[in-house]
Amino acid sequence: MTDQELIDAALQVRKNAYCKYSGFCVGAALIDEQKQLHVGCNVENASYPQGSCAETGAIAAMIAAGGKIIKSIAVTGGYKEADSCTPCGGCRQRINEFSDSETRIIVIDDGGEWHTYSMAELLPASFHLD
Ligand code: THU
Repeated sequence: MTDQELIDAALQVRKNAYCKYSGFCVGAALIDEQKQLHVGCNVENASYPQGSCAETGAIAAMIAAGGKIIKSIAVTGGYKEADSCTPCGGCRQRINEFSDSETRIIVIDDGGEWHTYSMAELLPASFHLD
């Protein structure tokens, strides 16, 4: 799967985001080490802290399907059009849990262009138990 196809999958799943409280809709699409695609969108809740991020949903889908490592993940979010949405701090830690040195995080940067980051760039000196 190409980066463009992964981006298209993130844009597509973003259309299903349940974001009625913030109005900020997010889509995430990832490819695992078995080359399987998993997607997720944010799912908000009237009890605000119970909402979940798009990356969280995509990671849960990967784990449920037996995937182990995120090879690439594309994330996009915005109020109307898809725009810049770098993963929040919590999601950086979640992605980190299932990353390796080659994991790529693909997002729209402040200039409006798709940009690829490494895990180390987004979460330097990360917390590990091992
Ligand atoms: N959100 C995500 O889905 N992923 C992120 O990395 C950042 C934030 C969602 C949470 C909430 O539903 C909305 O965006 C506004 O914060």
